[in-house]
Amino acid sequence: MHIREYTEDDRDAVFRLRKVAFNATELPERLVREGTRGLLAEIDGQAAGVLGIGAFAQFYGGAAVPMGGIGGVAVDGSFRGRGVANALLDAALHVMREHGQPISALYPTVPALYRGRGWEKAGVFEWVELPMDRLLSVPKPSELIASRPATGSDLTALHDCYLEVARTIDGMADRRPPRIDVEKVLEMDLVTVLPGPNGLRGYLTAKREPGGDMGRLKVFDLIAVDVDAQLTLLASLASWAGTLEAIDVRITDPATVNFLGSTPMRHSVWSSTWMQRVVDLPAAVAARGWPRLADTVVDLEVVDAHAPWHAGLHRLVVEDGAVRLEPGGTGAVRLHARALGPWFSGAQNTHALRRAGLLEGDPADAVVLDQLTGTSGGPRLADFF
Ligand SMILES: CC(C)(COP(=O)(O)OP(=O)(O)OC[C@H]1O[C@@H](n2cnc3c(N)ncnc32)[C@H](O)[C@@H]1OP(=O)(O)O)[C@@H](O)C(=O)NCCC(=O)NCCS
Repeated sequence: MHIREYTEDDRDAVFRLRKVAFNATELPERLVREGTRGLLAEIDGQAAGVLGIGAFAQFYGGAAVPMGGIGGVAVDGSFRGRGVANALLDAALHVMREHGQPISALYPTVPALYRGRGWEKAGVFEWVELPMDRLLSVPKPSELIASRPATGSDLTALHDCYLEVARTIDGMADRRPPRIDVEKVLEMDLVTVLPGPNGLRGYLTAKREPGGDMGRLKVFDLIAVDVDAQLTLLASLASWAGTLEAIDVRITDPATVNFLGSTPMRHSVWSSTWMQRVVDLPAAVAARGWPRLADTVVDLEVVDAHAPWHAGLHRLVVEDGAVRLEPGGTGAVRLHARALGPWFSGAQNTHALRRAGLLEGDPADAVVLDQLTGTSGGPRLADFF
């Protein structure tokens, strides 16, 4: 088997693989896109499997950590069960490390495949269906902020407003170009901004989609930096009560749902779980933001057959408010590859990891690992790939 980066010449072969695997119907105009790298596995010169790596970054502790977003993994039906997907994932780990992506995330349809290579459940991507009576019961804002449709000149302010909120929610993507094209937002049916004294106080993006008598309204982002801005945007959704019975809202900021408390907390949630893997632990530790803890040291042993560059003994040093990873130490806490993603993201504490058989060693040392990541409030992404 030979694995290489795909080029535009591979467009038809890659399309065929993904067409059969995912029932994709439209041949893309271009295969190679800025911000995405693709790997193609060949057996005897035939395209056997494909995998894409998107260049994203996720906020952890307020810092954007470069992340390889794995997607579009497909193996030809005639070549399945022979280790092609495993080989593609191994190659992807090398490629991500080489290109400075110390963490990786993916939405699994076959979790067992990714668990075998060190990814583990870390966070959610959620939509809620809000019945109109829920939205009508939201309190009115004390000050109604004048809204207007967005124009091209709002794009930077809109992205800044998103970042102001997103950097406080562990797991959220920073939506950096070129993988994410911020301009595309203007193609939506509704892009409402709330101008403030310094940039935007909030914005809402939504699309009309078919469904029911009057169609549906899908709100992709409802982002606001203060209470009145949140309430103004929610009030604007209540104005759809004449035509719609419910509105679908993607949960970008979990604080939004807290305003819907005055009627029973019943709504349908559509949730998709994403998995995380640490590709390069020293680089990931250096890139993340950390809380200010008293000086301390935790000795780690990392067991990771598929990313041997970070396997072995490390010392996690907390000093003068900064955190770094140095080689060496006694290996007092042993972390298996699949423990690294849930630990780094704050998705699971060391007790849960121990019960899952992914962590061993001194509980007194392990508790420092929880203090470093444990207050995330549940990692979350609002971008699907
Ligand atoms: C899923 C898919 C990519 C696996 O490709 P493959 O080359 O057959 O996988 P491999 O032979 O490398 O197997 C890798 C591991 O995953 C496991 N695995 C593969 N498919 C699995 C499945 N459907 N359910 C559970 N485990 C599975 C294998 O048992 C193997 O485990 P091991 O390493 O412990 O032996 C392939 O079946 C496919 O293209 N399916 C359709 C598209 C799809 O679902 N893609 C995943 C998108 S997230």
